[in-house]
Amino acid sequence: MAEKKTVEKSAKKDDRVLRIGVLGAGGRGGLASNVLQEGSGAVITALCDIRPEAFESPAWKSLKNDKSIFRTDDYKKVLARKDVDAVFVTVPDYLHEEFAVAALKAGKTVYLEKPMAITIEGCDRILRTAMETGSRLFVGHNMRHMDYIIRMKELIDSGIIGELQTVWCRHFISYGGDAYFKDWHSEAKNTTGLLLQKGAHDIDVIHWLSGGYTKRVVGMGRLSVYNRCKNRRKASERGIVTWSESNWPPLELKGISPVIDVEDESTVMMQLDNGVLANYMQCHYTPDHCRNYTFIGDKGRIENYGDGYGRRIDVYTTRGGFGMPDQSFYLRDVAGGHGGADPDIVAAFVRFAKNGESIPSNSPIAARNSVATGVLGTYSIRNGNMPQEIPPPAEDLVEYFNNGQKPVRKTASKKSPAKKTDEVKASAATGKKAVPAKS
Ligand SMILES: NC(=O)c1ccc[n+]([C@@H]2O[C@H](COP(=O)([O-])OP(=O)(O)OC[C@H]3O[C@@H](n4cnc5c(N)ncnc54)[C@H](O)[C@@H]3O)[C@@H](O)[C@H]2O)c1
Repeated sequence: MAEKKTVEKSAKKDDRVLRIGVLGAGGRGGLASNVLQEGSGAVITALCDIRPEAFESPAWKSLKNDKSIFRTDDYKKVLARKDVDAVFVTVPDYLHEEFAVAALKAGKTVYLEKPMAITIEGCDRILRTAMETGSRLFVGHNMRHMDYIIRMKELIDSGIIGELQTVWCRHFISYGGDAYFKDWHSEAKNTTGLLLQKGAHDIDVIHWLSGGYTKRVVGMGRLSVYNRCKNRRKASERGIVTWSESNWPPLELKGISPVIDVEDESTVMMQLDNGVLANYMQCHYTPDHCRNYTFIGDKGRIENYGDGYGRRIDVYTTRGGFGMPDQSFYLRDVAGGHGGADPDIVAAFVRFAKNGESIPSNSPIAARNSVATGVLGTYSIRNGNMPQEIPPPAEDLVEYFNNGQKPVRKTASKKSPAKKTDEVKASAATGKKAVPAKS
């Protein structure tokens, strides 16, 4: 009740308050409820979801009786409203491109959840729409706001491990079967694949901490466990994501999707444009959960243990046995979703939208490059494990976004769309018809 009063009061008193519409109010849409905290500088004015029960989710409890909130199942009605300055796009991945392009065209500032889109062409279309409309774009890579990632970046940047040479990330996903093999995630038409869907985070972290982008990727992967699950939901039933410790072992999970055409295990090797080599391994049927990264330089290595509670980073800078680091950093538990990253990234978005502030962690170009690596890594997995070259985004887009989303004064256009062969490859991974990048 107290929160509701604050929202109404600030909406009337402060005309600089950011008015937010949430497109996809269920599930991850709850992220936007971080602005309901006092002093956030933002309010929720519209909620959109095709399922009315999404409006009743715990995230929106304090708005339950607030009749001033516009609720609809049609996102275009939210985009048409004058009392919406910015939108959170938190619908499933296959809708990101359509929703983000429409929102940017409608002049809204956009918070777009990761992955940016499910094709390279989709990402490039979003980037170009942002540049052509001048509407501002923020991509929700919340791992860039996680304390252990930030700490590892600081350590690498400090030079303590010398010049970075190689990166390995092992991603154990204990909730894989529950979260990704019961609903829309299990179908390639909705995600391209889980290497992209889930790994977009990690590929982005690898790029960010390494200071480079993947230029060549090779992948291997397979579907070997969830395809053998006997207890399937009907195609006509909505996939319900439920998690419990007793949902074990994976083969005994209930309500698994009738259609699964994505990998439950995948590995990619990446060669970055600055020479760094990286490996990312993802497995969806482990009993435990962790993203375990190691960054190895020519003077040492760092490694994190745990990415939830009990996070620790070990630093090795002298010769010695495994498990005997020179230094260890223990990170305190932080309140808020995803280890405090969620309230932090929402606050950053509000500053970005209200003050035009440049947020160092926000890079739509990097978001696009993590998708490109995920798409072509998936293509490699499904097409004989052949190496794939990653097409860079057009130069004019890179210049625009590197310039803080402001036009760069030039006489000649430097637009250089991806080569047709690359478009065909990227589309083959998704099974979608190739669509040339739109100008
Ligand atoms: N950054 C993170 O940590 C993080 C975590 C979870 C999910 N996500 C991202 O958030 C997005 C949503 O994932 P989720 O797990 O919440 O999925 P979900 O299916 O649980 O929720 C999506 C919501 O969108 C609604 N929706 C679907 N089609 C719609 C339409 N046409 N119009 C309006 N609403 C519609 C659904 O009814 C649902 O309430 C995905 O892109 C996912 O990658 C990010």
